[in-house]
Amino acid sequence: MRMAPTGRILGSALLLLTLARASAAGAASLREAAGDKLLIGTAVSSRQLDNAAEAKLIAVQFSSATAENELKPDQTEPRPGQFRFEAGDRIAEFAQQHQIAIIGHTLCWHQQTPRWMFQNDDGTPLPREQALANLRTHITGVMGHFRGKVHGWDVVNEALSMADNGPELRDTPALRAIGDDYIEQAFRFAHEADPDVELYYNDFGIEQPAKRDRAIRLVRRLRAAGVRVDAVGIQGHWSLKYPPASTIDEAIRAYRDAGIKVMITELDIDVLPRRKRGPAIQGAVEAQADPYHDGCPPDVLAEQATRYADLFRVFLKYPDTITRVTLWGIHDGRSWLNYYPVRGRTNYPLLWDRQLTPKPALGAVLDVLEHGK
Ligand code: XIL
Repeated sequence: MRMAPTGRILGSALLLLTLARASAAGAASLREAAGDKLLIGTAVSSRQLDNAAEAKLIAVQFSSATAENELKPDQTEPRPGQFRFEAGDRIAEFAQQHQIAIIGHTLCWHQQTPRWMFQNDDGTPLPREQALANLRTHITGVMGHFRGKVHGWDVVNEALSMADNGPELRDTPALRAIGDDYIEQAFRFAHEADPDVELYYNDFGIEQPAKRDRAIRLVRRLRAAGVRVDAVGIQGHWSLKYPPASTIDEAIRAYRDAGIKVMITELDIDVLPRRKRGPAIQGAVEAQADPYHDGCPPDVLAEQATRYADLFRVFLKYPDTITRVTLWGIHDGRSWLNYYPVRGRTNYPLLWDRQLTPKPALGAVLDVLEHGK
């Protein structure tokens, strides 16, 4: 719902206030402001490091970085046993130079994964032993290469089903080939490959009660089977109003009470309208689907700043549970939300704008990190 005129005036006043605070925060970077409270991360691409301004921003502002695509299975092992690490190595080198903790994302997922890993050419599942061997070779090869350079790995990504009823696990090629224990096996292979590195289960929507409880049960099962799981990663692809901060707060509390640490791993705040249900909208973009093509209204940016502040206030309530918050990118121009779930829109989900100018949201986050409010 768009704001009424008074709402707009209030919104603009809030924006000015936020901007004033941002400059009052002065030289403080996110990294300085976060101090030892938590790691503050961003998604990076190796090509982005060629852009001096963006590379500098990453080095100054962030204490952690997740490879946005470079460490996914289709990049690291496009053909059986043929590993490719150049792009990942670039990110790892950059991180080492700037004392940035690298997160490996991801070893087992149903997307951006070559077919041969779990399927025959016709899409039918491979025999269990073959699929297990492929998974093990993959995990051992990739983790072995980056041993000592990576802080933690998203071992399995998005394995839980979203539907409130029905099977707990998402129907994926790995599940069909290996069976229900594929997650446990992936974590075992990962721990064998590098016993010193942190291992995470990562998913979206696991702040929602039903899926949250599935994630808690999954981690309990894995731990009962003797498997190391250090934390769950809540992706955090959220929008201005949804989910409410209270849902996120309750979820973090539930994980904490279950003895599970939490990382917010892919945070961005979508400001564009989304379909409630149904498939991503394909093809031609209607004008109404791209309402801020020529710029984001100040009241929306102010609302986004408030939203980011609300979320970070929740995160800081749980210092022993939330150990990292990672934004899914640095500036609006590079966000995946410009092409997902609708291609060709103009979105504004991050803390810097397309010119690398700080947005109100950055000031708001700095403020909360520095002063806890
Ligand atoms: C996205 C990247 O940001 C895009 O560049 C790529 O085209 C598709 O994947 N959940 C995840 C991430 O775990 O790996 C996804 O990243 C976003 C959703």
